[in-house]
Amino acid sequence: MAARSVIRSTGSYLPQRILTNDELAKQVDTSDEWITQRTGIRARHIAGDGEPTSFMATEAARRALEAANCGAADIDGVIVATTTPDRSFPSVAVQVQSALKLKPGPAFDVQAVCSGFVYALSVANSMIQTNMARRILVIGAEKMSSLIDWNDRTTCVLFGDGAGAVILERHEDDDGRGILSTHLYANGDLRDLLYTDGGTCTTGTAGHIVMHGREVFKNAVTYMAEIVEEVLDKNHIDANAIDWLVPHQANLRIITSTAEKLNLPMDRVVVTLDRHGNTSAASIPLALDHAVRCGDIQRGQMVLFEALGGGLTWAAALLRF
Ligand code: ACO
Repeated sequence: MAARSVIRSTGSYLPQRILTNDELAKQVDTSDEWITQRTGIRARHIAGDGEPTSFMATEAARRALEAANCGAADIDGVIVATTTPDRSFPSVAVQVQSALKLKPGPAFDVQAVCSGFVYALSVANSMIQTNMARRILVIGAEKMSSLIDWNDRTTCVLFGDGAGAVILERHEDDDGRGILSTHLYANGDLRDLLYTDGGTCTTGTAGHIVMHGREVFKNAVTYMAEIVEEVLDKNHIDANAIDWLVPHQANLRIITSTAEKLNLPMDRVVVTLDRHGNTSAASIPLALDHAVRCGDIQRGQMVLFEALGGGLTWAAALLRF
């Protein structure tokens, strides 16, 4: 059997500052009741000036290294999924590489917005399976607050900052563990449903998030249902083989609809959006780290990741943890 890649360890970082729904209601015309009912979000962490994306990514990675008892010399490469890099270039990945004193090796960013972590995991998995690397840090890190128009109530209540990391490593044992399949999609015709109204080569600034929420919501429910079906078919398993769903944390109603599709009770779904909000590419590794550290997700269990974001992009990965 060909070697697989396993998640050896996880780590995460959340900024200290917590912004509650009630605080937001003092700034824009909204309420804790509206935000909680429509999204499930109650609070989010907001990074300060000294916490750029590279800092959060580095801290999350440091914690994953500690959890794995790995040193800098054990890591062959870094992939960071982010849509909020500190600078247009160099990448966040090379900043992490330098901060952690890693040896020279591949280091680059992947931009697929909220699906970015699953995209990055898929790329790292391919690199490991083709013997380009043995152990790769895969990180999702976002400072979404830097893209927010704090006067726009339709978006400012949704997002938060943070980072999550995993060490993905080659696994030779024939014990069924590892990434079983990854599924990546995009439909660029839907790019105007969710975008920033700026960019380096157009306005010279990153701009602010613009979202046609209702349309994104409808597409998310449809695409998530389709991709979950595809994962089950490809792996010849029933929905009841899934132990844990670790979904992108954008809206509790989207998560619930996917769980219903899988016939999975909500106590088998990792939900952190009530405390984290939507942290884009960081949301799955943040949720994963939470579930691993509190002992919910155990070695050998079947775990499904799924996400949808700007692009539109959407993606899923099935793995035996
Ligand atoms: N507080 C109070 N009222 C609000 C707020 C707010 N914060 N925001 C919008 N409203 C109002 C609207 O103005 C509208 O009022 P109207 O009926 O008088 O016109 C009403 O609430 C309903 O607005 P909708 O947009 O229809 O609300 P909906 O139930 O669709 O919820 C939401 C909006 C939460 C954005 C939802 O559509 C959603 O979650 N969409 C998907 C988000 C997603 O998955 N994004 C992908 C990842 S993000 C990324 O990739 C960067």
